[in-house]
Amino acid sequence: MIYERITERRTIRKFTQQVVPKEALINCVDAARMSPSGSNLQPLKYIIVAEKKLLTSVFSTLSWARSIPNYKHTPNEVPTAYIVILLDKKIREEAGHDPGIAAMSISMVAYEAGLRSCILGSVDRPKLKEILNIPEHLQVILVIALGYPAEKSKAVEMIGNDTKYWFDEQGILNVPKRKLEEILVWDSF
Ligand SMILES: Cc1cc2nc3c(=O)[nH]c(=O)nc-3n(C[C@H](O)[C@H](O)[C@H](O)COP(=O)(O)O)c2cc1C
Repeated sequence: MIYERITERRTIRKFTQQVVPKEALINCVDAARMSPSGSNLQPLKYIIVAEKKLLTSVFSTLSWARSIPNYKHTPNEVPTAYIVILLDKKIREEAGHDPGIAAMSISMVAYEAGLRSCILGSVDRPKLKEILNIPEHLQVILVIALGYPAEKSKAVEMIGNDTKYWFDEQGILNVPKRKLEEILVWDSF
């Protein structure tokens, strides 16, 4: 059931070093390709990064888990693949909502394949452009880190307005989610 898959998916930032099959990564991008697009312009392009040296370079452009002080990866916990979402400015000047939709498609297809992911917006974009030799007209929008999970995360009910996620005594990441009644209005205010 899609509802279950969507609600049980959590962001994972640490990964085993098991290699991700190429097919699984291609399926992710293919799902993004088939996702909704404003005016059907389809302005997004994708880079799959899976080569060892490039993985290390891409990692150096990313900021992780801002809510958690001193959140650090050991070399055995880094992502084993990335998908970079790019906006082709020759097709559309502004990214609009397409990248978020594409990112979710990628995350869910990855999830179904047993992979876990982290969407990253905190990216040193100029550095990443240089590392991946990205042409001028392609703008880096989001990076999705992928791999097999090496940490656990669960959703918990939010207390007050505290959106910060934290690790509990079992080392499980607790991610507060707002209550349904806080965010849902029927018909009108
Ligand atoms: C647009 C977007 C940008 C994000 N950027 C980052 C990021 O730069 N670094 C990071 O560690 N997590 C990032 N995240 C992951 C969020 O922190 C995560 O989705 C949030 O804590 C909720 O957790 P959940 O995905 O498990 O529900 C981003 C998520 C989204 C949707």
